[in-house]
Amino acid sequence: MMLKTAAIVLTSCLLVPQLALGLATRQEPQTNYDLAGLVTSMRWSAQTTVSFPGQTRFVNVTQRWTTFCAHLGTSPLSAQETREISSKLGIPFLVTSGRHGFNPTLGGLRNGLAIDLSRFDKLQINARANTLTIGPAIRTSDLLRPLYNAGFIGITLGGGIGRWDGVYGLFTDALESVRFIAANGTALTASRTVNSELFWGIRGAGANLGVITEATYNLRRIARSEKTGSGYGLNADFTVPASQNATYFKLLEKISPYPARLAIVTVVVWNQTIGQTQIVSNWQYFGPRKEALVAIAPMIALGPSVSSIRYLPWPELFYAQQFGMDGANCAPGLVRNIYTASIRKITSSTWQSSFGKMARFFEGNPSARALTSFAHETYPNQATVAVPDDETAYPWRDAKGYLLFQFGWSGAINSPVAATAAALGRELRADYAATSGYEKELKGGLAAYVNYARGDEPLENIYRTDKLPRLAALKRTWDPNNVFAYHLALPTRYPAAP
Ligand SMILES: *[C@@H]1O[C@H](CO)[C@@H](O)[C@H](O)[C@H]1NC(C)=O
Ligand SMILES: *[C@@H]1O[C@H](CO)[C@@H](O)[C@H](O)[C@H]1NC(C)=O
Ligand SMILES: *[C@@H]1O[C@H](CO)[C@@H](O)[C@H](O)[C@H]1NC(C)=O
Ligand SMILES: *[C@@H]1O[C@H](CO)[C@@H](O)[C@H](O)[C@H]1NC(C)=O
Repeated sequence: MMLKTAAIVLTSCLLVPQLALGLATRQEPQTNYDLAGLVTSMRWSAQTTVSFPGQTRFVNVTQRWTTFCAHLGTSPLSAQETREISSKLGIPFLVTSGRHGFNPTLGGLRNGLAIDLSRFDKLQINARANTLTIGPAIRTSDLLRPLYNAGFIGITLGGGIGRWDGVYGLFTDALESVRFIAANGTALTASRTVNSELFWGIRGAGANLGVITEATYNLRRIARSEKTGSGYGLNADFTVPASQNATYFKLLEKISPYPARLAIVTVVVWNQTIGQTQIVSNWQYFGPRKEALVAIAPMIALGPSVSSIRYLPWPELFYAQQFGMDGANCAPGLVRNIYTASIRKITSSTWQSSFGKMARFFEGNPSARALTSFAHETYPNQATVAVPDDETAYPWRDAKGYLLFQFGWSGAINSPVAATAAALGRELRADYAATSGYEKELKGGLAAYVNYARGDEPLENIYRTDKLPRLAALKRTWDPNNVFAYHLALPTRYPAAP
């Protein structure tokens, strides 16, 4: 990912405190430190691997899902920036697990250390206690089938937000406790009863406060029966031609708010075969087949051009969605520049005018057709809003939609399409924000979900103004030198000292 950056693969939890301590206490300012020298002079355990650019292993442990952020700011850091970074911590570092995060602030690391946790792959289901404990290397796709086979539901589907928000709430709401390593090397447990203030902040702004080496979740048992619909659901994928865009968007507005068991993802893409922009619409309903067919009936009535409808056990729904596109969506190492906005309501007139802009972009930019998609995740939120807002730092419980405008293109990162994409990304974001339902309380109406935000949004639009003083106090306590700096960093004071 980063030029001139060493990478290390940690193999034991015990090493993390040593490492954090070693890095966080190195206070002397060093403008031109010798990274390779420093890293090789440290004593690592026999199983820990250290690698440098040019080595295959380095690519394996640093390659991200998107290459876009890695190439921002390729010019060398100014002396001032370097002094600031090194006087704060000696060596800048970034701790990574799935490397799927895509906000460009992650690309800020230069001449630093990428700490890879991919060997922290614990996956332990305790059927008596109804808990699941996982290491940071575990991905959602690793979880679903083992959990289901053990008779539980995969609450973490989709990360913090997801299609099941209407029934089970946010994944962070199922979190019971974490093992946490602070910037000063202290290792501790945080839960609702121990270090509860920290636990509040971890659930919404966790990437800013320390390293999580283990997380334990509360599980719910499920009965599995295709007949009653328990543990089963319907996946329906439709293709809607451009000529029907307005009818389709009006339908979504009309049926919103959705019933708790219905989630819809609308993706605008280019159809290579017919040379036109089209809508791919995914509907999932968790429950009995009969109910599911009633829920999707208005969509069928539109007469979409292609459809695939399958009734499946829950984990399989994840792999079936979007005509089974999951594998392709997850391929790492491609250019992906992403803009986001969260919405509280669907305003079909905005969706329709934006669709025209997306279509014009596809028409004018052939090199971006295959790799660009405009996704509108619209989820019910009944179970999410049932949890009091104050319970966690997570700020957007009342959101009902999360937009991901993902621009990709073949050829150079800085090809002419880059600027066109960036301008359209900002424009679409502003269009949707202006009718998001958040216009009264947020500047421009822009609410940005922290896992989707890119860092050019004001902090208030990511973390929420009234939550920031409490988050800043946590940052001041647990990471006063901003060692965890590359994921939409929190300030240590809010509002800033005059
Ligand atoms: C890098 O990853 C590839 C593909 O997973 C694997 O075949 C190769 O052995 C890895 N190389 C190293 C040095 O880890
Ligand atoms: C979207 O639908 C509207 C209303 O039918 C239509 O005027 C417009 O041309 C459509 N947009 C595209 C890009 O086809
Ligand atoms: C492209 O559109 C045609 C005509 O609607 C359809 O048959 C085909 O499945 C579409 N292709 C994709 C990849 O969606
Ligand atoms: C690390 O910081 C925490 C929070 O300020 C504090 O409670 C703890 O004592 C510190 N540990 C060390 C080793 O300084």
